Amino acid sequence: MDSLDLLSPYLFRYKGKNFAVQEGVKPKDLDALQHVEVHPSDIYLITYPKSGTIWMQQILVKIMDAAHPDQVEEATNRIRVPWLEGSTVDNFLRERPDPRLYRTHLSPNMLPHGVKTKRTKVVYVMRNPKDVLVSLYHFAHSWVMLETPKSFEDFFQDFLDGKAFMGSWFDHVREYYNEKDQMDILFVKYEDMLKDVRGEVVKLCAFLEKALTDEAIDHVVEMSTFKHMKTDPSANYKDLIEKQRYQKETMRKGVAGDWKNFFTVAQNELFDRVFTERMNNLPLSFTWEIKQ
Ligand code: A3P
Repeated sequence: MDSLDLLSPYLFRYKGKNFAVQEGVKPKDLDALQHVEVHPSDIYLITYPKSGTIWMQQILVKIMDAAHPDQVEEATNRIRVPWLEGSTVDNFLRERPDPRLYRTHLSPNMLPHGVKTKRTKVVYVMRNPKDVLVSLYHFAHSWVMLETPKSFEDFFQDFLDGKAFMGSWFDHVREYYNEKDQMDILFVKYEDMLKDVRGEVVKLCAFLEKALTDEAIDHVVEMSTFKHMKTDPSANYKDLIEKQRYQKETMRKGVAGDWKNFFTVAQNELFDRVFTERMNNLPLSFTWEIKQ
């Protein structure tokens, strides 16, 4: 049996990332993923957790449904866009016609090799890390595989130290940014979707080479609003509450700037210092708040 490099009873570290022990995935399974067969038409949705994965998943599913109506399926997005490293929940090996969608939180060096060699399309969604921290803090109270944080202060420090689920946000974004020329990748910002989701859907369609009519694009937008997704059981993962994997729903607020309700002035100053140190040579900017 693999011996795990345990960070806590809940998380183990492998290749610089932190995985949930109870999820059941092992280092050897993660290594095996590098040899998963990739088709050139596959589409990979990649995120650091809580950056807007299920939102983009819904957008991609609806774009593909419009572009490939013969492949519309009566199944949840969780099944239709399997989680590559989620060994206990989704069957990513399920036979599906091309083009296939996958989602993952893995770093570039852990992806199936074919993602680079076959130049599959990668959609990388990123979100301002203060809101990611707050969203992940709440998620850690919901997903039974994660330790319930002792306090916001503890969780805050763990996040900055790269000890949260999937490790450091700073590393994740940097790794993908540094690999951008080796991949066919589109960076999408969560806050840009909040500001103008239609505009982002249009960019996505161009990137994915899917020619949708204006009406079809309108439909994608309607299906991806927070309000719609909250009541759409195929999109909102509420089945995981019934399966007792989530204790509460994860479509929580869906805004930019909620961190202001959680960070103290001192925590914000510390965060800004770490952000500047870790990100200062990357030409990436983030939107920290959108007034309602
Ligand atoms: P909050 O916890 O801040 O509300 P992920 O899917 O990567 O786990 O990210 C979850 C976050 O995305 C949650 O953030 C959730 O509310 C938000 N989200 C999901 N669907 C959304 C939508 N249609 N519009 C805006 N935010 C959405």
